[in-house]
Amino acid sequence: MSGPLTGGEGAETLRVELDTRGYDIHVGSGLLDHAGALAAPFMRGRRAVVVTDSIVADLHLPRLRHGLESAGIAVEDIVVTPGEETKSFANLRSLLDELLDRRIDRATTIFALGGGVVGDLAGFAASVALRGIDFVQAPTTLLAQVDSSVGGKTGINTRHGKNLVGSFYQPRLVLADTDTLATLPARELAAGYAEVVKYGLIDDPDFFAWCESHGPALLAGDAAARRKAVVESCRAKARTVAADEREAGSRALLNLGHTFAHAAEAAAGYDGGVLHGEAVAAGMALAFDLSVQLGLCPAEDAARVRRHLATTGLPTDFAALGLANRSPDSLIDAMRQDKKAEGGALTFVLVQGIGHAFVARDVQADAVRRVLTRAQAA
Ligand code: NAD
Ligand code: GLY
Repeated sequence: MSGPLTGGEGAETLRVELDTRGYDIHVGSGLLDHAGALAAPFMRGRRAVVVTDSIVADLHLPRLRHGLESAGIAVEDIVVTPGEETKSFANLRSLLDELLDRRIDRATTIFALGGGVVGDLAGFAASVALRGIDFVQAPTTLLAQVDSSVGGKTGINTRHGKNLVGSFYQPRLVLADTDTLATLPARELAAGYAEVVKYGLIDDPDFFAWCESHGPALLAGDAAARRKAVVESCRAKARTVAADEREAGSRALLNLGHTFAHAAEAAAGYDGGVLHGEAVAAGMALAFDLSVQLGLCPAEDAARVRRHLATTGLPTDFAALGLANRSPDSLIDAMRQDKKAEGGALTFVLVQGIGHAFVARDVQADAVRRVLTRAQAA
């Protein structure tokens, strides 16, 4: 559906088709101002607890608060520290304690206002508080608008790696207000853009070509390009999640670049030195290299991907992530601990070319080692 909604000038609405757990994704300008009108039909009560981080609270909480209050919804907020380190057991515990101290009930709705960190943490808390209360995703980073707010993956990191404790728990609604992207730092915007490119690389060569011609404008502030990128990304993600909610099959393709990326993030630590989207960009370039190395993909496709990522300022190897000194074997060991690995076998999303991704199990460590050695020296 496209056109004017109850709120939000000309917002576009997509749907994640999951029977009784299905939900709408609204994408457009001004949505936070109309959050109450948009969310009220899905709320059991008239109480909202907004979970956000301190940077987003200063920039965008007043608009969401006003948007909810103007529809008669009572609003409280809980503000967490920005950054990946917030996705921890300790912070999950304090968030749950805080929610219970405030005597939330099953009619309370949590609103996750922020990037993927807030969405993953607040969504996980919502999934276990009182055995599950409703939550709404209000993503404010490009990464969260195009990926993490849709599909119901929630969770935290542990010392064993990223997102190893969590749940599949769908939101009741996603409000992707593209105005919020105007305050996002350029580096965060570029990191989120890596996940946009990913959809083209998986199964949509035309969308990758669109990225090649519109990516730079999008990053420079072109509102129409941003909106198109969010809509098309959400469309692809909604379709994928509807077909395979719990990642028994095709949803795993969304992990293109992620086996390399998660190892890089674990090696770098979660202190903001390497952003998730940056690690995914390098990981996708390396997944193409590995595919070329294994004789699966034309070398010119890998070069084209690398060229586009580099044009947008994204890293395409591990040296650029500051990991030149890590031993390839320690990185490979981290890959064996990835959620997708089964029985310690190395699992990757590989490609037969741009737009032709597939899941490869039991990839030989030697080939991965060769790609890593080159990527670190680059
Ligand atoms: P983030 O949540 O850390 O946000 C990045 C930074 O931008 C933070 O400092 C935040 O305060 C700030 N910020 C957020 N919105 C802003 C705005 N509009 N203006 C100015 N500053 C703003 O990072 P992220 O990239 O959004 O998310 C990364 C996380 O998402 C990782 O933990 C990753 O594992 C997770 N993730 C989850 C899924 C999923 O399916 N659940 C998918 C992809 C990534
Ligand atoms: N970001 C991968 C997924 O949601 O499945």
